[in-house]
Amino acid sequence: MSNTPGFVDVVLGLQWGDEGKGKIADFLTPKYDVVARFQGGPNAGHSLEMNGKKHVLNTIPSGIFHKGCINLIGNGVVIDPVLLLQEIKRTEEAGADVKANLYISRKANIILPTHKLLDAASEKNKGENKIGSTLRGIGPTYRDKYGRSGLRCGDMFAPDFKEKYSANIERHLALMQHFDYSDYNLGDLETEFFKAVEELKTYQFVDSEYFVNDLIAQGKKVLAEGAQGSMLDIDFGSYPFVTSSNTISGGMTVGLGVAPKHVRSVKGIFKAYCTRVGSGPFPSELLNETGEELRKKGFEFGATTGRPRRCGWLDLVALKYAVMLSGVDELIMMKADVMSGFDKVYVGTGYKGENGEEVGTIPFDFVTAGFQSTYKEFEGWHDDLTVVRSESEFPASFSSYIKWLESEVGVPIKVVSLGPDRVQTVVR
Ligand code: GDP
Ligand code: IMO
Ligand code: MG
Repeated sequence: MSNTPGFVDVVLGLQWGDEGKGKIADFLTPKYDVVARFQGGPNAGHSLEMNGKKHVLNTIPSGIFHKGCINLIGNGVVIDPVLLLQEIKRTEEAGADVKANLYISRKANIILPTHKLLDAASEKNKGENKIGSTLRGIGPTYRDKYGRSGLRCGDMFAPDFKEKYSANIERHLALMQHFDYSDYNLGDLETEFFKAVEELKTYQFVDSEYFVNDLIAQGKKVLAEGAQGSMLDIDFGSYPFVTSSNTISGGMTVGLGVAPKHVRSVKGIFKAYCTRVGSGPFPSELLNETGEELRKKGFEFGATTGRPRRCGWLDLVALKYAVMLSGVDELIMMKADVMSGFDKVYVGTGYKGENGEEVGTIPFDFVTAGFQSTYKEFEGWHDDLTVVRSESEFPASFSSYIKWLESEVGVPIKVVSLGPDRVQTVVR
């Protein structure tokens, strides 16, 4: 056993998700022994690009393409056996040894077919006020988890799993009666579910809290990979337009069972601009040609649902909030290559409400105040940044943008990503 204890570095999104966590987690993996997911589920879509090929991961951690790296799905994650199995097959076909390198927590809650139906029914019922959920059953599954009636992966191995399952389904079907929603065939969904469960059971399930703490005690280095983004956090995001888990760094301790003392650093990822999928406030949103251009150039379409992402300028108020909540030690900036070609670029530095009130923080009425960002203007850059491999090649206006952001947020930008591929990454 090593005398030097291991540690956990947390890497997470600071905006509304899709910051580029998959790319960066994959890029950082060679420095770690373990990559672990601690919250969320198949609502996530993490894109990795290497050797001209793109891979999208939903529940599997982004270290899976590195030989010998342990990939752990922690207790805080919710698992859809059907989708996870499909993802495993895809990932195996792409060359990863999932059987050997993936470990799944016995305590991770299971997404049942009826959780997805309840998600869809609830969204339909909300009409115009819908959350814009990915419809993966995330909200209903976490509701059952905290309501203490959920099923967990370890239950799949119990002789009474079917009975436990049926009790849950009965309760869900009673709930479904409150909704005008009949557009489903539960029988088909159940057949698919139990088939997937049987096959999933041939993979490695562990008591993940012991598993990961033992690895840390052996001196192993763990990268905890967040899903979603800080502004979608159940407590601190733009509630109710959020996901149902804690996406900030604190979520790691409960989502893996690792004490805060083991955290070495928190790496916060943000896009040089901003995107959001689904409903909810977005003060720096660009509902014009510039927004359209960012969407086109940045290929801003959901990795999970294919929905067009809403685009806008960087929101510094939200970024500072997220940095505070997670205690971010270093920043990773993504996709500045997409902003190439604008004469001027902007950063939202404050909010102005519908009543004329100006604020520089995120108040309780964030969702209802009708905030629009107030901006600071910067010189744009025109060079093709996707071919840039060192900081010395950065255009002067881009360097100024970076330095200004660092001084405003008070945290260094250590990595600059300038394209989707592993190699399009500059470490400062
Ligand atoms: P995640 O959910 O945080 O992992 O992010 P997504 O994978 O959902 O979305 C990020 C998208 O941007 C993906 O299509 C990535 O391939 C792509 N991407 C990541 N980093 C960069 C970058 O620096 N530049 C460009 N142009 N694309 C990037
Ligand atoms: P990654 O990990 C972007 C959004 C949905 C919706 C809200 C609630 O790829 O960054 P849910 O399905 O959780 O009930 O949806 O959260 N959302 C995401 N947006 N990236 C994600 O994951 C997201 N996961 C959920 O669009 O607005
Ligand atoms: Mg994504």
